[in-house]
Amino acid sequence: MKVYLDNAATTCLDNEVFEAMVPYMKEEFGNPSSIHAYGRKTRSAIENARKTVAKLLNVAPAEIFFTSGGTEADNMAINQSVHSLGIRHVISSKIEHHAVEHTLQVLEKEGRIKLSWVNVDRKGNIDLQHLEELLKTNDRSLVSLMHANNEIGTLLPIKKVGELCQKYDALFHSDTVQTMGHYKMDLQDINVHFITCAAHKFHGPKGVGFLYINHNVKIQPMIHGGAQERNMRGGTENLYGIVGLAKALEIANRDIDEHIRHVRGLKNYMIEQLQQHIPGIEFNGETGDKSLYTVLNCCFPDHPDAEMLLFNLDIAGIAASGGSACSSGSNQGSHVLRALGCNMERPSVRFSFCKYTTKEEIDYTVEKLVSLYKEAKTLAK
Ligand SMILES: Cc1ncc(COP(=O)(O)O)c(C=O)c1O
Repeated sequence: MKVYLDNAATTCLDNEVFEAMVPYMKEEFGNPSSIHAYGRKTRSAIENARKTVAKLLNVAPAEIFFTSGGTEADNMAINQSVHSLGIRHVISSKIEHHAVEHTLQVLEKEGRIKLSWVNVDRKGNIDLQHLEELLKTNDRSLVSLMHANNEIGTLLPIKKVGELCQKYDALFHSDTVQTMGHYKMDLQDINVHFITCAAHKFHGPKGVGFLYINHNVKIQPMIHGGAQERNMRGGTENLYGIVGLAKALEIANRDIDEHIRHVRGLKNYMIEQLQQHIPGIEFNGETGDKSLYTVLNCCFPDHPDAEMLLFNLDIAGIAASGGSACSSGSNQGSHVLRALGCNMERPSVRFSFCKYTTKEEIDYTVEKLVSLYKEAKTLAK
């Protein structure tokens, strides 16, 4: 049996999305900047995709800027807040994705910003009181906090953080890469200036995403070149990627209630089964309503190391992850688990689910985990 439980790293392409993309890989190949009929056709496909995305988020199409994915969108929001808007103080957390954390560290190293880390509890919840203190005692800030943590799944109370930012006139960027397509988002209801998206996290294509920029915020481009994306990002557009992104977001929103019910059910079932069969198992991050329903991070007792566990799962046909995709193999362990003060001696494995995950796959995974755990215990004796 082959089981893919690494959907927070990336998801498979939905067939409907593939079908929507195919014409733009073949017959509709015009450069969207060309003024002839070929170009007009593909320009219209891009603008329709922008309208679809904007409608789903309840924003104006002019507030959506297509990018190469989540990393570029995060970089653009943060760098351009500093370069164009005069931001000199940024508040973030030690459990952000590297697309945010490393961007901020470079700016700090260059002496462009003062960086404050807001306190986070053992489960990855942001200390809102501390956030308010930091907002109160510093100049106009940019707050960069992710909507759901990609490794442990803990959710940010995004509305509350938005309200705090509004109270102190701060800019608010939230990396929504792990929640886009997994929750309905009405941006008229949240005070946020920038959010980010990567299509491959919800059965869209890789290498495409977007940055939402609130119309009240005017930043300069990060990538210079042609006049694409209303002068905000030079470079011929990833036409079929953009078409695929819009289709994937449309499908995700259309079927969202059913997916939440299905995937949350599987996650709860896996928690129950693991607790029953592996005494002493713990979970990193929140596991209930305060957590992203697609992610479950397990901390295993009595096992020599995580890499061995992942290796053995891989041999059994099960794909899971030790942390975020970009840090796996780096051998340093997860910066998120370390920041939370988790026991790094015990192996942690992230399982992440999607609409295609089945109960049989969870049963098979639990069965393998139980036998691997028993083997490790015997060896340890
Ligand atoms: C929370 C978060 N932000 C940003 C990214 C980067 O997205 P991409 O690899 O599409 O640039 C990821 C991908 O793992 C992510 O999980």
